[in-house]
Amino acid sequence: MASVIIAGVGSYAPPRIVTNEELSKTVDTTDEWIRTRSGIRERRIAAPDQTTSDMAVEAAKAALTDAKLTAADIDLLIIATASPDAPLPSTACYVQHKLGVPAHATCFDIAAACSGFLYALEIAYGQLLTNRYKRALIIGSEKLSSVTDWTDRTTCVLFGDAAGAAVLHKVDQPGIGILGSDLGADGEFADNLYISAGGSKRPADAQSVAERAHCIRMNGREVFKSAVRVMETVAREMMEQHHLTPDQINLVIPHQANIRIIEALAANLKVPMERVYVNLDRYGNTSSASIPLALDEARRSGRIKPGDLTLLVAFGAGLTYGSTLIRW
Ligand code: ACO
Repeated sequence: MASVIIAGVGSYAPPRIVTNEELSKTVDTTDEWIRTRSGIRERRIAAPDQTTSDMAVEAAKAALTDAKLTAADIDLLIIATASPDAPLPSTACYVQHKLGVPAHATCFDIAAACSGFLYALEIAYGQLLTNRYKRALIIGSEKLSSVTDWTDRTTCVLFGDAAGAAVLHKVDQPGIGILGSDLGADGEFADNLYISAGGSKRPADAQSVAERAHCIRMNGREVFKSAVRVMETVAREMMEQHHLTPDQINLVIPHQANIRIIEALAANLKVPMERVYVNLDRYGNTSSASIPLALDEARRSGRIKPGDLTLLVAFGAGLTYGSTLIRW
């Protein structure tokens, strides 16, 4: 029996830190409001000339080094992003070129918003297990600052820029690596979190630019309620499928959107917060980068040890959601 393991993890966050205090000088908000409503203290913002693919490349280099592999070893490259370099071509092709991934590799983007990294994990897992590819590089990378309306206080305080990556391959050993994943989507809730212009439905024009309709809009309250519900459901289902109780999970790594969502999830699952990884206070919501960034930090800080069980849980625009169970 074979398994698919995460052989290396890496992340990148741009050096520029924007604190709540700094934001409150340009929008009508306060550090106190942002901290108590979301748990966020500061976020990283990419340089104007720094792209989603640039950040993806940095995270990928770190993951390849961690896996003791090079770009030449990769034959499947998947980028999960909601803020691609451009609508065409895929950001994966830019990353392939910058990184030196061989021309025979399959490279593409997926759009599953904040659940994108877990969607990419699932796709890579299936392709590697069936021997279609040998080594996969999957990256969640976001320059959300480029699709944020910096005059809208209900959204601009929440988002940040970053990238996280993982290298996966198959091993001839049962019971380790990715033990299972459970993904879902509910398009009924698509209108709660969206970018309305810049696509075929509403191509960009002077009016859409004036309205900042190419920026993220959100019904925060509705997203909040859906997030707690779907994350709890997929996390619980994953544990039940594997006959696990919450106390057997060493670390839960949830999508980092809001501390109140994370605390509600932990309380509902009866997992103490000591076993839930949180770094949103320092990065805000980095969408598809949030889980691999947290995973990388958790590994580097010794929060994940060989043999540990880690449960990744995500939700995002769509409404997409998913959970992935990993044995290290
Ligand atoms: N500063 C000060 N006041 C604010 C701010 C701000 N930044 N933003 C909103 N307010 C005000 C509102 O105008 C409102 O005022 P009113 O009562 O006079 O109308 C009041 O604060 C309360 O607003 P709510 O929206 O009810 O605040 P809530 O407690 O719901 O918190 C939040 C808002 C933080 C957005 C929360 O709903 C949330 O986190 N939702 C989920 C967001 C999320 O997870 N998004 C995921 C994105 S994932 C992806 O795919 C990109």
